[in-house]
Amino acid sequence: MVQGRTVQRVAVHQADSIAWAQDVASKRGAPCFDHTITDPPYPEHVQGEGRMFGATVGRRVQEVSAGFAVRAPLETFVPSVLALTRRWSLFFCDLESLGAFREVSPAEHIRSGLYVKTRAQPQLTADRPGSGAEGIAIFHGATVRKRWNNGGKANVWYACPENRKTALHPTSKPVMLCAALLEAFTDPEELIFDPFAGAGNVGLACLLTGRRYYGLELNAEHVASARSKFDAFLAEPGPLLDKWEKYKLSREDKTLYDRTESEA
Ligand SMILES: C[S@@+](CC[C@H](N)C(=O)[O-])C[C@H]1O[C@@H](n2cnc3c(N)ncnc32)[C@H](O)[C@@H]1O
Repeated sequence: MVQGRTVQRVAVHQADSIAWAQDVASKRGAPCFDHTITDPPYPEHVQGEGRMFGATVGRRVQEVSAGFAVRAPLETFVPSVLALTRRWSLFFCDLESLGAFREVSPAEHIRSGLYVKTRAQPQLTADRPGSGAEGIAIFHGATVRKRWNNGGKANVWYACPENRKTALHPTSKPVMLCAALLEAFTDPEELIFDPFAGAGNVGLACLLTGRRYYGLELNAEHVASARSKFDAFLAEPGPLLDKWEKYKLSREDKTLYDRTESEA
């Protein structure tokens, strides 16, 4: 019963999404997803810091780096993902990569966004600033009019990073951040594509906010983790729904320069 509902609303499959998106984009004349929200692997210098952190806290390096993959050149997946997406495409990335994302498709690139970590991991080497924020490269399809649900609010979202153990993935994006982005950019019932699904937090946020979800992920263990999270939510949605309601009331959901607030 639970599995049936999972398949209907949110689905995640094991596949090489880059090959899949290239193939489908070359055959289709029109987009098949309303939006893309996805978290491709980060470049090697970012991953190196993650491995160093794992070693420092005494975990086996292999264990910590298990979810990392080398990022393919942006040209191999951004254009085909954009071609398959009717409205917004959001790609999480390190701040240094924001310009590179824009260069892949300047015509469709609209803005860069910022995910600010309310509890950032310290820079253990202490020889440079730690990384307290990540980027969001924001694109829009050329054939439909742009609109979003956050009025004049700014492009900054605050969220607390996930605990690696409970997230079941070393680089999961916070479910609250994903849900806030879904509410800002998408409408209920729309279909969201996530070609780098990891352990499925974008999909979990889709269940939370009433969007449909199609995720692809290379690693079979992550696919299993994502499905187990969806099933756990469907069996007992209360705790995550409560967290979402609290998040929306909290300071973390506020964006900078919220005009309604400053005028109040
Ligand atoms: C940064 S992680 C995504 C984490 C995810 N946002 C979450 O919350 O769990 C990137 C994921 O992309 C997957 N990946 C890398 N290349 C892929 C490909 N060609 N096709 C499908 N998945 C891929 C990796 O296995 C990894 O789990």
